[in-house]
Amino acid sequence: MTDTDFSWLNVSKQIKIERKHDFDGNYLTYHMEAQRSFRRNLSIQNVLNGFKIIQDIITSEKALLWKKLINSDCPCLKEHDFKVNMLHDIINDEVDAEIAGYFMSEYTPIWMKFYKNNIDDSLPPAAGWHIDSGPSKHLKLLLYLSDSEKIGGGTCYLDKFQTQQFKNIGYVYSDFNNRLKNLEELADQFDISYNPVQPYMSVGSGALFEPFGVMHRANWPTKSPRYMIQICFVPSVENWKDMLTNPNYPAESNAFPDVNTLNSPIGVQKNYNKNFTMTREHLTPIFEWLIDNPDKILEVDEAISMLTKARIKESKQLYQYGGGDFVQKFVTVHNANFLKENQAFLRPLRLLSPLKAMGISRSSKSPKIKVLTIGPRSEAELMGLYRLGFDPENVDAIDLLSYSPNIKIGDVHDLPFEDNTYDLIILGWVLAYSSNNALAAKEIMRVGKSDAWVAVACNGERSGVDEYREQEKLSKIYIGGVPCEKSGDSEGQSDKIIHRFWNTGQIHRLFQNRIESIVFDYNRQPDEQKSHFVEIMTIFRLKDE
Ligand SMILES: [Fe+2]
Repeated sequence: MTDTDFSWLNVSKQIKIERKHDFDGNYLTYHMEAQRSFRRNLSIQNVLNGFKIIQDIITSEKALLWKKLINSDCPCLKEHDFKVNMLHDIINDEVDAEIAGYFMSEYTPIWMKFYKNNIDDSLPPAAGWHIDSGPSKHLKLLLYLSDSEKIGGGTCYLDKFQTQQFKNIGYVYSDFNNRLKNLEELADQFDISYNPVQPYMSVGSGALFEPFGVMHRANWPTKSPRYMIQICFVPSVENWKDMLTNPNYPAESNAFPDVNTLNSPIGVQKNYNKNFTMTREHLTPIFEWLIDNPDKILEVDEAISMLTKARIKESKQLYQYGGGDFVQKFVTVHNANFLKENQAFLRPLRLLSPLKAMGISRSSKSPKIKVLTIGPRSEAELMGLYRLGFDPENVDAIDLLSYSPNIKIGDVHDLPFEDNTYDLIILGWVLAYSSNNALAAKEIMRVGKSDAWVAVACNGERSGVDEYREQEKLSKIYIGGVPCEKSGDSEGQSDKIIHRFWNTGQIHRLFQNRIESIVFDYNRQPDEQKSHFVEIMTIFRLKDE
């Protein structure tokens, strides 16, 4: 036993240093962003666990050449392009897979340094056992240009478990002058296992290790100088080759840059051209604003889709209309399956876009505008209306099927609303599934105010579809646009009762003498080779009879 004084051990200092980069420096958040935007498939044979030796990263010829450049202090080693070319040699497929596999994200070298360590140099702090200050997830590669046996030195490591024990007693961030070359006595006093290893390094091989996760020390050369290249890697949102177009990296200084200065776009922006990238500086204030204004998330279609799915999942019960004819029953079953599969409709938002362009919701009487949507299927369309500025209190919805307290059960042919109630009525992909279009239109005109807006969208089949179907030998019949197995009496019935729409004129005729003006009129004819569906959308304004 020993009476050596280890009172300088300091656990609290360690916690402070651990927070410095991960939390205060935002490296943890940045790493998560990098992982979210990672788009590669990796097949990793060996996951790095503390440290790993990778053989033959560069040839001995190249190592000899680089050794000469270091020895002569070649100015080329300060040139950005030269260093980037070296990195292209060093980061081969194996090195790349190890690093990307460790971070589970893209990564970038932030600095690289060239070393010539002479045997008579005064010992640096790195010669004592330590871990490096830095983000908890970062990597270093020590590329040996000398053979460790020939130089009579190398790098020693402890494994992660032993390192953790030295962390627990507050050793690993000790002051430089307290760093020990030999931990035997300390290990003995605190009953810690201590089995350092010094792997053999051939010329051109590299040691990839977690400087924060495993203790290490330079075992100073005793026979001849050690030539080495050291590279530090941190996670990044973009591939290192793109990151290194920034002339600041790889840097000479071994400081960890502010993540904001890594100057990389957030997420994957590869579809945008080089003159338009969204940087962290651009996006951070937007995210902060969204946290204070969460309702604005409805501006994002994908957010509506996700919210809709979440709310369908939370819903306790699915209500459905009691009566109805064959078509209604068919539609109900179809839409129930749709909801069960937890899909969300974003299609209705398309019909709402022209309303946005027209600024109806922003007119002077907008707070009082009464809106009725018929057959929204899910709440996605309601959210689309809310984001346009319509007051949710004034938005009614009705469908044959509902999981939501915001969607009432009812039938377009018999609307449970007073005459002359609504300023805006929306039928997104609904009217084609009505078995009596004229009656539906009559009901819409009844509950609409005399100057109400009506917005209708439908998918239909182009004329001549029967021949098309015959040619293609389609085994399905189509109701409105919903495929339906050709079986039993459904086929016969559907032919009788389904009215297909091929153009908006057919819709307008249903409302004929009540249309004051048509403000939006869209007819998409099918690509004859690929599809027989037409898509039609129209918005018009009613007038008194
Ligand atoms: Fe170190």
